[in-house]
Amino acid sequence: MLNNFSDQELVDVYTKCLLENLSDDFKAILEKELKKRKLFVTVEQELISLAFGKSNLDFYQLVKYSLDSCFVLQDDKVIYINQAGFDLLGLKYPEQVIGEAFSRFLHPDFHGIHKKRLETALNGEVTELMEQRMLKSDGETIDVEVMAAPYAMDGQNLAQIIVRNITQRKQTERRLHNLEKLSSIGQMAAGIAHEVRNPLTAVKGFVQLLEKELVHPYLPIVVEELDNAIKTLNNLLQVAKPDLNNEPDVMINLCSELESLIFLFQEQLYKVTVNKHFQNCDKEFRGKKNLILKAFFNLLKNAIEAIDGKGEITLEHFYRNNMIHIKVRDTGSGVPAAKIKLLGTPFFTTKEDGVGMGLTQVFTTIHEHGGHIHVESEEGKGTEFHIQLPAPV
Ligand SMILES: Nc1ncnc2c1ncn2[C@@H]1O[C@H](COP(=O)(O)OP(=O)(O)O)[C@@H](O)[C@H]1O
Ligand SMILES: [Mg+2]
Repeated sequence: MLNNFSDQELVDVYTKCLLENLSDDFKAILEKELKKRKLFVTVEQELISLAFGKSNLDFYQLVKYSLDSCFVLQDDKVIYINQAGFDLLGLKYPEQVIGEAFSRFLHPDFHGIHKKRLETALNGEVTELMEQRMLKSDGETIDVEVMAAPYAMDGQNLAQIIVRNITQRKQTERRLHNLEKLSSIGQMAAGIAHEVRNPLTAVKGFVQLLEKELVHPYLPIVVEELDNAIKTLNNLLQVAKPDLNNEPDVMINLCSELESLIFLFQEQLYKVTVNKHFQNCDKEFRGKKNLILKAFFNLLKNAIEAIDGKGEITLEHFYRNNMIHIKVRDTGSGVPAAKIKLLGTPFFTTKEDGVGMGLTQVFTTIHEHGGHIHVESEEGKGTEFHIQLPAPV
C-alpha cells in the first residue's frame, strides 16, 4: 500500500503520526519504508519547519551566538568562524583566520590526528569528542574538546569543527592531582622526617657531651654531619607542612620583589642575561611574603643552574582575568618529556648535589595561595614556568 505514496506523502503521514501519537505498529511500518527510501533527513526538516514555521528558522543565527566555537572548513581552510571561535582564539579580525589553515591554531601534537578526523568528516561521518590543545593568537595554549562533523553546502563536502574550551576544567584536574601527589608524599616524608629528627638530635646532644670528656678528631665531624642531616630534615618539614609557617598575610608587589631577588643572584649572573618584561606593576596580591619569595628564589636558582655557560632568563609579569601571571623562562638544559611529571615531587633531583625540595616548595606555596603553575620544557632548549596567582580587583 505504501508503494503508492509519493515521498512527500509518506513524510507527511509520518510526521502527523508522530505529532498525534498514532499506533506504534503503524509507525513501525512507516519507519521501515522511510528507512528504505532514506527519508529521515526530510522528516527532520519537516518537523523543524512545523515547529518554527517554514524557512523561518535561521540556523546561521543559532550558530553565530552559540557558546561553543564553530569552524567550517574547506579541506583544512577556515571559511567560517563564529563569535565564540573568535573569543576562544583571542582574534580581532576575520582576516586573521578566514582562509588560514585550521591546523595553524592547533597544537603541533594534534596535527596528525586532526588530518585523519577531518578526512572522516569530509567523508560524511561524525567523529567522537576528543581532547586536544589549541594555540591562541598570543601563543597561549588552551585545552579544548573537539568534534568534527560533515557539512554539505552547494554540493560541496565541507567539515564543521565544534570546539569547547575546557582549560579551566583541566587546570582544576591537574591542580587536584598535584595537590594529592604532594600531600600524600609530603605527609609521608614529613612523618618520617619527624621520627628521624628526634633521635638524631638526641645523638647530637650525646656526642657534644662526649666531646667534653674526650678529644678525638672524628667527634667534630660527627657533630657537623649530624647538623647537616638535621638541617635537611628541618627543610623538609618546612615545605611538607607549610602551615607550620605562621606568617601573616600581607599585600605583595611581585614586580619589586622580583627586582630584589634578581639582585641576590648578581654573582652568578655574569654569563646570563636577564630580560624583564614587567607590565601592570600596580597590581598586588595577598599572601605570605617569605614563602612566595622563597618560591621565586627557588625558580630563579633552578633557571640559573640549568644554564651551562651563556644563556638567557626572561621574567614576565602581567595581569589578566583577575590573575597575576609570572613567567620564568630560561634557555637552559630543559627537562625530558618523561620527567616533567616528576617536577615538584619531593626529592626528585637530577643534580649531583641536589636535594630535590626546591620545586616541592614552589608547587606547595603556589597552590596554598590558590594559584596555578604550568611547566613547559624542551630538552636542550629551555624551560618555562608559568605561574598564576589570584589577585581579584
Ligand atoms: N629551570 C629548570 N631547567 C631544567 N631543569 C629543571 C629546572 N627546574 C627544575 N629542574 C629539574 O627539576 C629537578 C628538581 O628541582 P628542585 O626541586 O629545585 O631540586 P634541585 O634543584 O635540588 O635538584 C632538578 O634537579 C632539575 O632536574
Ligand atoms: Mg633547586
